[in-house]
Amino acid sequence: MQNMADKLLTRYEELKAQVNFHNYRYHVLDAPIISDLEYDRLLNELKKIETDHPNWITPDSPTQRAGARPADRFEKIRHPAAILSLANAFGADDARAWLERVKKLDDRVEKAKFVVEPKIDGLSVVLHYRDGMFVQGATRGDGEVGEDITSNLRTIRTIPLKIPVNSELVIGNSRSAQLPSTNYQLPKYLVVRGEAFIPIKEFDELNKKLEEAGEKTYLNPRNTAAGSLRQLDPQLTASRPLTLLVYQIVHSEGGKVPTSQWEILEYLKALGFPMADVAKRFNDLDSAIAYTETWNEGRDKLAYEADGMVIKIDDLNLAADLGFVGKDPRGAIAFKFPAREVTTTLNDIGVAVGRTGVLTPYAMLEPVEIGGVVVERATLHNFDFIAEKDIRVGDRVLVKRAGEVIPYIIGPVVDARSGKERKYKPPTTCPACGQAVEHFEGEVAWYCVNAACPAQLLRNVEHFVSRGAMDIVGLGYKIVEQLIEAGLVKDVADLFTLTKDQLLELEGFADKKAENLLKSLEQARAQSLNRLIAALGIHGVGEVTAGDLARAFGDLSALSKASAEELQLIEGLGPNIAESIVDWFSQSANQKVLKKLKAAGVWPEMQKSEVRMQNGALSGFTFVVTGTLPTLSRDGVKEFIESNGGKVIDSVSKKTSYLVLGENPGSKFEKAKSLGINIISEDELKKLAG
Ligand code: IVH
Repeated sequence: MQNMADKLLTRYEELKAQVNFHNYRYHVLDAPIISDLEYDRLLNELKKIETDHPNWITPDSPTQRAGARPADRFEKIRHPAAILSLANAFGADDARAWLERVKKLDDRVEKAKFVVEPKIDGLSVVLHYRDGMFVQGATRGDGEVGEDITSNLRTIRTIPLKIPVNSELVIGNSRSAQLPSTNYQLPKYLVVRGEAFIPIKEFDELNKKLEEAGEKTYLNPRNTAAGSLRQLDPQLTASRPLTLLVYQIVHSEGGKVPTSQWEILEYLKALGFPMADVAKRFNDLDSAIAYTETWNEGRDKLAYEADGMVIKIDDLNLAADLGFVGKDPRGAIAFKFPAREVTTTLNDIGVAVGRTGVLTPYAMLEPVEIGGVVVERATLHNFDFIAEKDIRVGDRVLVKRAGEVIPYIIGPVVDARSGKERKYKPPTTCPACGQAVEHFEGEVAWYCVNAACPAQLLRNVEHFVSRGAMDIVGLGYKIVEQLIEAGLVKDVADLFTLTKDQLLELEGFADKKAENLLKSLEQARAQSLNRLIAALGIHGVGEVTAGDLARAFGDLSALSKASAEELQLIEGLGPNIAESIVDWFSQSANQKVLKKLKAAGVWPEMQKSEVRMQNGALSGFTFVVTGTLPTLSRDGVKEFIESNGGKVIDSVSKKTSYLVLGENPGSKFEKAKSLGINIISEDELKKLAG
């Protein structure tokens, strides 16, 4: 018995290491080497062992990230060394003046190298590792004492819960980095500092989801990140797309760590920490400045908001010897990008009607240039925001444009008021159709619920024809608007009965343009059922759910008859979305659209073999088969994969999940190898399908 328990414990340790490793490949390197399916298998095996042996669970188990219960308040933590700040340089001259000053203090500066890193606009966090285990994490606080936010930090999947100690550091092949030098000994106690933040893309997606759900949107990535990290309930933190990049060793005991900033970055990367890939080392300040300036131009290409670059003297002993001015070390400087915040006049407040009928206020501004772009509109988030900030029409307002984020209003400049500004009252009727607007319990948004509202129709048609949906080329916003204004399109089905004569009557349409549009509409009839379902714009049904629905029901008539219970048989489809689907199909206006689509021949159906009531074990994966398999014939293997929800395609591409390999394979084998596609045998295929 003892033996078996030992074996299981060994397996448990192995599983923890494996899952942590694959998390790192996925979240930090963005380069997974196993499929989601295989990952889930490992995780489930791990969870099963933990259910049977709860006393085995250790804090570095990947299941323990969001396990902590809500706290009443945050405890204080004294930092092992001061968490310093940085002096600013506004432009190249400032940076050169800094170097001249420090040169006078120490001759070694003459020959110094410099590391340039992004200055991420996030929050400084401090992470403590004892014997390789993440044991504590804190906010910066006042630089001496911060708040204990360990449970929240654990939910950030790019933070390693465990780092290698001593002999475990065999990272060469499996992780993408190598230690800069083998002379370093891993400390028993290591404290690192990094910047936690929400990437811009994730921030925009988060806001889009909130807006569609009628909830309050967040103002900007930085505040959202700060708010998320200071949640007492770690579950909440876990639901926000936080990540971090590390850049400093604050303190270490019982080991030997690099004394060059560049090597620190490489060292931390080798330990499994996420690192800014734009960081670079230079032999002189001018090159460092030139590089920094390229990022001033290119800052929109960064995945996060950066308010500048940090230029650091590479030799950390030299940097330390230079000392501080107040809380700012002399060995580094923040080279700030010109701010993308300006003030301008709020000429008026407009209201846009979204596809779901949500009313969103936006600012109509006196045009103003921000970082090379003329801004005339900015989001005002929601009506509560206008009231809370007491934003009045005619106010001078502070506007910010950051990265690819839509420009937003920060607030009014109250001191600049003349007294002529006018308080704003939200509309009681829809600005597009005039019908009274409604408010739902528990949501901040106001809605226009008129299904025939022309503004909603516009958004609806736009969505229907968009790339992720029916992908109708040549049908842009302007033309959709024209078609609706001319009364030719009253719902999406009308698109398919347009005639050339009708199009020729529209402004800007000549023979060729009309023919091209009709041709793309013709092609769209052949679009897959997935896309058609996604195009309908059912609340909560995106591309992935649309695919699941298509496979589960096979056509729109079957789907339209499905009950909420049946819909919930689909994995991952919860009661809210099920309700929303049933609701959509129950509306007579939508039924009419479906009838019209069918009559117009837009009625894709799935092949029988593709239809399944439930997700199969292979669903979501694509397979290519090459060579002769031991038992299954060509058709046999295809049928096997498809009946388990997978897809079989003819040629290998980056998107292929697996190559099933038999005797005497063709060139597909070479191609799959070169692309790093998972290669499996017939046996393994069967195991995969369970
Ligand atoms: S170095 C001695 N490096 O900027 C070390 N700071 O005004 C001093 N920050 O509070 C900090 N990215 O929160 C450093 N690559 C980076 C940074 C960075 C962002 C933040 C940090 C600090 C502030 C300095």
